[in-house]
Amino acid sequence: MTNLLHIDASVRSFLGEGEKHSSISKMLGHLFITDWKKQHPHDPITYRDLAEDTPNFISQDWLGAVFTPEEKRTQVHKMILSESDQYINEVAIADIILITTPMYNYGMPAALKAWFDQIIRINKTFTFDLARGDFPLAPMFSNKTLILLNSCGEFGFGEGELREHMNHLGTHIKVLSHYLGVNQFFEIRSEYQEFGDQRHLDSLSAAKHQVRQLVVELSQNQSKAKLTA
Ligand SMILES: Cc1cc2nc3c(=O)[nH]c(=O)nc-3n(C[C@H](O)[C@H](O)[C@H](O)COP(=O)(O)O)c2cc1C
Repeated sequence: MTNLLHIDASVRSFLGEGEKHSSISKMLGHLFITDWKKQHPHDPITYRDLAEDTPNFISQDWLGAVFTPEEKRTQVHKMILSESDQYINEVAIADIILITTPMYNYGMPAALKAWFDQIIRINKTFTFDLARGDFPLAPMFSNKTLILLNSCGEFGFGEGELREHMNHLGTHIKVLSHYLGVNQFFEIRSEYQEFGDQRHLDSLSAAKHQVRQLVVELSQNQSKAKLTA
């Protein structure tokens, strides 16, 4: 049984394949989930649309609650942290975290950043120990897979490409994923949305193909793991 956590971050809705103004990143996520359910009809999926149900920004009170030892936390502290606790519980049980997101201003949407800020939390998802030297943070979870499906208006954000240096989306999420215990990271990107030309259609079709392939690959790996268990 694989537990999947599906996070959508675009402010646009998925209105159906090919619909004008419909979210491309959400469409790729929908494709992944549809294929996944065919292969794993009984596997649990938790879903969050961060545009519909936007995480709160962390605050001074939030930090105060985090750094108050658990046994000394008041009801107010517990209430402040309840949102973060809920998100962390969802990450804790997830084997696969599927994040779909647009590129906004060369990075992730604020709602997705707010979700990461709520989740990457001391003594819940990482420990901090200066005995580790210059890298004192260590993740508490392990063996998770993160799949990032994203859509951009421009193009050339891949390794060695024209706008690699402007890509603060996949690179950022890959760094953060370490603190969620991710040891397998996949990124699939659709580009050229703002150009709306053949290059966009080709990029989209390649992304869709890669999504479907990834479901097949992950399912095969899962069957192999079951056989060797
Ligand atoms: C507020 C905003 C900022 C954007 N910034 C960028 C950007 O920095 N680089 C880029 O390539 N596209 C940018 N775009 C275009 C989106 O990445 C593109 O429309 C993408 O398809 C949106 O994802 P979605 O289709 O899932 O909603 C931006 C779009 C919006 C609305």
